[in-house]
Amino acid sequence: MKKPNNHILVIFGASGDLTYRKLIPAVFDLFNQNVLPEKFAILGLGRTQLSNDAFRKKMEEGIDKFALNNEGNSKNNQKKEFLKKLNYYGFNTKEESEYAGFKDHLLKLNAEVGTENNFIFYLATPPSMYTIIPCHLAKHGLSNEDDGFKRLIVEKPFGYDLETALKLNESLLKNFNEEQLYRIDHYLGKETVQNLLVTRFSNAIYEPLWNRNYVSHVEITSSENIGVGNRGGYYEGSGALRDMVQNHLLLIAGLVGMEPPALINSNSIRNEIVKVLQSIRPIKEEEVENYVIRGQYIGSTIKGQPVKGYRDEQGVDPESRTETYVAMKFFIDNMRWANVPFYIRTGKMLPTRVTEVVIHFKPTPHHLFASNSSITQQQNQLVIRIQPDEGLLLKFGMKVPGAGFNVQNVNMDFHYSELADTYLPSAYERLLHDCMLGDSTLYSRGDAVEAAWKFVKPIQEAWKKNDQIKIHGYPAGTWGPDVADDLIEEPHLTWRYPCKNLANDGNYCEL
Ligand code: BG6
Repeated sequence: MKKPNNHILVIFGASGDLTYRKLIPAVFDLFNQNVLPEKFAILGLGRTQLSNDAFRKKMEEGIDKFALNNEGNSKNNQKKEFLKKLNYYGFNTKEESEYAGFKDHLLKLNAEVGTENNFIFYLATPPSMYTIIPCHLAKHGLSNEDDGFKRLIVEKPFGYDLETALKLNESLLKNFNEEQLYRIDHYLGKETVQNLLVTRFSNAIYEPLWNRNYVSHVEITSSENIGVGNRGGYYEGSGALRDMVQNHLLLIAGLVGMEPPALINSNSIRNEIVKVLQSIRPIKEEEVENYVIRGQYIGSTIKGQPVKGYRDEQGVDPESRTETYVAMKFFIDNMRWANVPFYIRTGKMLPTRVTEVVIHFKPTPHHLFASNSSITQQQNQLVIRIQPDEGLLLKFGMKVPGAGFNVQNVNMDFHYSELADTYLPSAYERLLHDCMLGDSTLYSRGDAVEAAWKFVKPIQEAWKKNDQIKIHGYPAGTWGPDVADDLIEEPHLTWRYPCKNLANDGNYCEL
């Protein structure tokens, strides 16, 4: 892997959970692979006053718990070396007048380490700070690239709806150029999400079939078997539509649906993703009820243990109408996908944690073995498993050995775990390293974020205006409201009910 230029990674919100659980462990994993620049430092910022030592101690705990690769004595020595690169500066990041002191501190560290005025600013703060911090940085000359690179990483949520996203983009672009902006969608950092591009465009066998002539429908599921935990306060203002659909799931749909990019570079790939998002047929407000199902988990018993319903979670309104589950059907109005339904669903407190894409192929035009088969209509499926048990599975019909021509479905599967010595880097590891190299391919571009919000807007409006639209309760630990099955057009088909193990599905597998 290439080594980035010398720089300082400046983290706003350094005393928060994201820094502790994801960012520092990911940078440590990069350090372990020897892919950080020779001259490198991290400067954590926050309102809490902490000494460098106290910050290092807390981050060491995070590394021990969450780094992927920190076992053994040599790793212990590595950790000591790495922790020396961590620094902390406490100040009120809201107050412009305090930025002069911060800048002095940053430039001093820059001179000490020799990082050549190259800075990455990471906003791991509450979203209310996304307009304030970049503006203060720019006022103090810290977005100016004359003397070194200045990049800004912005975490999701990128806006609350179309209007706020537009305003946020406008405000960021007043202070930084699009080329300096890195909007994180951590799903793009997942190895298996990137593999969607390779599966599609490096294999001659899939691409000819990847269109309306051969695909009957596409299914994308991202289920979680946990509830909102201690994030109830945040989730109440978000819900599954904003939290998962507007970003992660639409992005996956973009990668499944896109045309081959002209080149493997940031603009070519992002141009194709945005075209897909702009081609999704808008769901009119009055149609929302027919195309979108929302649900909320209610208390139940899982493996003999009682579990809380969403409304009983900490920080949640006891009469909340926030959705913890969304399933929807939409169409991509372009030459490749005309009239092919895309079904996507996501939810909390479902039976298992799985993210996967299923390409359902059309049946053969003539069902030759109909009388001998228990399967009414053979349909091949290609399952692209994003997590867990990452891999690929093709389902096809095979003759049952013996008399007659009985057909049975069998699997052909590949699991990443079968590759010897494969290390699957964490999403943050990949994305941070890309930003250090100045590669924004796996970050969302402003126009894509806006297109996704535009699609989601009528759904948000319909839910806001029409409280007759049901929010279906589903018992925690089940696959969500049954009515979601009715979204699927073909009466004999339903969602795939995935299990932890890629090769299994159905309602009875071990989860
Ligand atoms: C985040 C959402 O963006 O993605 C969370 O805010 C969700 O609610 C998480 O749990 C899921 O990510 P992953 O990588 O665990 O699938």
